[in-house]
Amino acid sequence: MSGAAVLGIETSCDETACAVVAGGQHVLASAVASQIDLHARYGGVVPEIASRAHIEAINSIIERALDESGVAPADLDGVAVTHEPGLIGSLLIGLTAAKTLAWAWGKPLVGVNHVYAHAYAAALDAEPIDYPAAALICSGGHTALYRCDSPTELALLGSTIDDAAGEAFDKVASILGLGYPGGPAIDQAARDGDPAAVRFPRTLLKGQSLDFSFSGLKTAVLYHVRGVPGRRRKGEAEPKKRGLESFNRQEIADIAASFQAAVVDVLRIKLRRAAKHVGARTLILGGGVSANTALRAVAAALAERLGCTLRMPAMEYCVDNAAMTAGLAWHYLRAGHTDGLDLAAHATVRR
Ligand code: KG4
Ligand code: ZN
Repeated sequence: MSGAAVLGIETSCDETACAVVAGGQHVLASAVASQIDLHARYGGVVPEIASRAHIEAINSIIERALDESGVAPADLDGVAVTHEPGLIGSLLIGLTAAKTLAWAWGKPLVGVNHVYAHAYAAALDAEPIDYPAAALICSGGHTALYRCDSPTELALLGSTIDDAAGEAFDKVASILGLGYPGGPAIDQAARDGDPAAVRFPRTLLKGQSLDFSFSGLKTAVLYHVRGVPGRRRKGEAEPKKRGLESFNRQEIADIAASFQAAVVDVLRIKLRRAAKHVGARTLILGGGVSANTALRAVAAALAERLGCTLRMPAMEYCVDNAAMTAGLAWHYLRAGHTDGLDLAAHATVRR
């Protein structure tokens, strides 16, 4: 079974993806249909639009991945699918497609947790990960730290109590008029900015907390740009209204860099705490935010200081894809774990 190929399907958010991965590692094909253009005008993912777009794209994406892989359905060892967490309507499209194929081809079905798959993405087209590891998974929907003892044994150490890091990037980019998705736009703008220009808050740093909170930071950026409401004393003149127009390009780059520095600082401090807590040999980054240039640089320096190996996925496997789903499912199959056709979708999971 070592070279066996698994077909994976991922539709948890706004990417319709299918991939074929051999031996849990070698990506034979990875097809992704992005819906970014459909959601851009709303500044975020609209669940109903996402579900409809998944229905329209799913069959051709599966066909494309199978064709590119050169693997016949009869030679597959299983069909994997993201079944939690995510947008429920979106998850159900992928789950229904996967169940149909598993039943029609007579192959085992394997349900995969999307966040666990992000923690596995760094092993794709690369060496196996050296465990135990501390994994920091940051995306548009999740920000969490895990202890990982193997690809399939993960324990949640902490997570966000409000916004996810990627969500904060998207909202702040919208406040700064930088477009959607916000992460890459802020990453780009921050390259010309001064990260020390504005001192934005770093939250939940006290004690040994491994949880995160980014909504206060987002509000701090909003107030910095639009002014703080209700700060006028009786008899005082109306303060000069601030707004995006009153900031020049350089100042916007400075705010972007200062916001990014605040997020990355918190992520670094918590990842360091988690690594020590776990006694980690490896640090893992995963999720869309792990494409961030500043985070990647800071994580590399941290790993060196701790004497750990840093594993970051290739850029295409940082964001949502099905190769990580198929790759991780191979380990479940190898351990004899499969799911029935009654496998359910779950919007949220906390474990
Ligand atoms: O993992 P992903 O594709 O989807 C979810 O599961 O949410 O992550 C998407 C998120 C978005 O919020 C996007 O703005 C963020 O990842 N992102 C980035 C960067 N590239 C994508 N955030 C910061 N810097 C980046 N370079
Ligand atoms: Zn994701």
